[in-house]
Amino acid sequence: MLGRLAHVAIAVADLDAASEVYRSRLGATVSAPRALPEHGVRVVLVDLPNTRIELMAPLGEDSPIAKFVAAHPRGAVHHLCFEVDDILAARQRVTEAGGHVLGGGCPMPGAHGKSVLFLDPRDCAGVLIELEEA
Ligand code: CO
Repeated sequence: MLGRLAHVAIAVADLDAASEVYRSRLGATVSAPRALPEHGVRVVLVDLPNTRIELMAPLGEDSPIAKFVAAHPRGAVHHLCFEVDDILAARQRVTEAGGHVLGGGCPMPGAHGKSVLFLDPRDCAGVLIELEEA
């Protein structure tokens, strides 16, 4: 069911500082920052040959990542995103296998405009997993 690793999302307090780490110290291609007010984040994409890193910082008071960043002020991996061919089939497989989908289980448009679901980290070896319809 799981396809390509679409991105690894890293939540940070300072997006410019994190971008500089990837651009200058690590020599990666880093996009300009983009505000996604509907998701409560500002993001920068780091393009790698086999996947992307998504650096994200809270935007606004009720950002869904505000608490996470407060708990990890130096930044931390927030989630892994895997592509799936069919988001509804993926949801069915996860729930039939006893897993839990967050947010009521309804696919939502994600940061890249594709349908996404998030899986409960308690079922996924402690890691928040995003499934994105390819
Ligand atoms: Co993501």
